[in-house]
Amino acid sequence: MSDAKIHVLRDDVVGKIAAGEVVERPASVVKELVENSIDAGADSIEIEVQSAGQALIRVADNGEGMSQDDAKAACLRHSTSKIRDITDLDRLNTLGFRGEALSSIAAVSQMDLTSRTGTEEAGIYVYLESGEILKMRPAGRSKGTTVEVRNLFYNVPARRKFLKRESTELAEIANIVSRFIVSYPGIEFKLTHGDRMLMHAAKNMTGIERIRSVFGADVADHMTEFSSSSGKYGASGFMSRPSATRKDKRAQMFFVNGRFVRNKHLSDAVYEAYRSLLERHRHPAVILFLNVDPSEVDVNVHPTKLLVKFDDEPAMKAAVTGAIRDSFGEIEATPSGAMAAVVPPAMVEEEEGESPGREVIPETTGVQTEFGYAIDKKVPSAERSVANAWLSLSEMASPEAKREDIYQIGGCYIVRIGEEKITVTDQHAAHERVLFEYFSKAAGESSVEAQNLLFPARLDLSAGESLVMEKVIDKFAGLGFQIEPFGERSYVVQAIPAMLRYSDIKKVVYDILVDLSSCDLNKADINEELIKLTSCRAAIKAGDPLNREEMVSLLEQLKKCSLPFTCPHGRPTTLDITVDELEKRFRRK
Ligand SMILES: Nc1ncnc2c1ncn2[C@@H]1O[C@H](COP(=O)(O)OP(=O)(O)OP(=O)(O)O)[C@@H](O)[C@H]1O
Ligand SMILES: [Mg+2]
Repeated sequence: MSDAKIHVLRDDVVGKIAAGEVVERPASVVKELVENSIDAGADSIEIEVQSAGQALIRVADNGEGMSQDDAKAACLRHSTSKIRDITDLDRLNTLGFRGEALSSIAAVSQMDLTSRTGTEEAGIYVYLESGEILKMRPAGRSKGTTVEVRNLFYNVPARRKFLKRESTELAEIANIVSRFIVSYPGIEFKLTHGDRMLMHAAKNMTGIERIRSVFGADVADHMTEFSSSSGKYGASGFMSRPSATRKDKRAQMFFVNGRFVRNKHLSDAVYEAYRSLLERHRHPAVILFLNVDPSEVDVNVHPTKLLVKFDDEPAMKAAVTGAIRDSFGEIEATPSGAMAAVVPPAMVEEEEGESPGREVIPETTGVQTEFGYAIDKKVPSAERSVANAWLSLSEMASPEAKREDIYQIGGCYIVRIGEEKITVTDQHAAHERVLFEYFSKAAGESSVEAQNLLFPARLDLSAGESLVMEKVIDKFAGLGFQIEPFGERSYVVQAIPAMLRYSDIKKVVYDILVDLSSCDLNKADINEELIKLTSCRAAIKAGDPLNREEMVSLLEQLKKCSLPFTCPHGRPTTLDITVDELEKRFRRK
């Protein structure tokens, strides 16, 4: 006997090992078989499973079918009709290309395949066990293909042992089928388990109807369709309003050229679009279809093709972010009924409260005189309040807006009464949005209008606060704050953003420093964080009284924002109560 340690594996062992990569569990079989049916041009695909796919998986389609020779060849390893050469991947328009799915499935199951093309008289039946063809004969069938996979992993007990509970495997199958339902609206899909129909998407169901059938009305009814193309990329799909987000990412599906993928850059691009619109720990629902020339994306980087690699990631990201962002402008204010359905009561952030952990330096109320701001002549001197900081942006309200009935209630909400609806705006959230957009734009263009203080304001900081100040003093400068060291742990504010000329600037800066001390100051987007905090801290608060002109002007400025319906933390700025909703509430409907 030879004592060599290394030997070449037998073919059947190689086959089983290779199969392990493609066929992890019953759901992978469903995925591969359905992909083959889609590649074959089917517009009706029926999937039947028993015992969550462990006893049987049957996929029947009405696609182009296979000739007798092709059916036999299809079950061999590395046999495919889809590519001849590796360069064909650059022109790939099918889901399959490796020529290994059927052979891999056959290697770990008892599989039979019945198929007929539109032109041949007789169809063909092939039966395999452990990848070996045991039977082959002519068989009748209408045009199309049926593949039946029985006793998956019967010959790989280790795999079988690792299968999860039936309910888990079945849920995974339903997941896979959901992806197809959502991404191929022209195809009818049926999924049955035993004699129970689990999912059915009729051919004429539209994209959004399919999303509704998969994710429910709560998700679908708060989505907007989007579509745009930029350069090499076309991005389209459905996305949730920023105010209708979820606690988990389950309602997110990304498809590249019809293929479901996971890709960090793609997902980053989506979150980038929602940046400043999402509350912490909330996620948008997004069904995204990205189309790109196959030469721009590598689909051959993962055994089940779940991962892809883009040649030009920045261009891809710009296209995706742009496509989603563009549609935000078209989104309507959130109807209040819908809000109640999607926003949990615990969402109100602690942002309004006093900053904890710092001794509050006593301030007087007459802010402008105390700090001696040089007052801009454009601003009317009457009724100057802390709250009218926003006026400094400022055209005054237009005459027609003034005629509308407008009230402040609860010291916090601006209420407008129209013929068809009552619109309620949260004054703090609205002002925060206005300031955030102003600072984001002006800081980006280095055009923040600064204003010198006649009497510089002195800040005496704690050790912690002065460490934070050292790190962010330059960033403050970008927003129009001129702050200079003034001895140990003391600073003077020489100039401030003109937008904040009526704010209690000491308090604003102290509050920002306290907030920043709980942030990671080294992260890249610290500038955005500073803009968010400045907007939040400088914005008018709940409880600040507003006169009519102030309310009108704030609403006009909000209207000019590119994303007027949420504050930078993702909370809604505005709710509509429609007549329709009142009728429902009074049970007239
Ligand atoms: N339902 C079907 N209808 C018609 N032809 C099919 C069907 N299923 C498989 N085929 C044929 O069998 C071939 C092999 O299928 P298989 O899934 O093993 O490989 P592939 O789809 O080419 O590549 P991949 O391994 O990436 O899926 C396919 O190229 C196709 O020609
Ligand atoms: Mg295939």
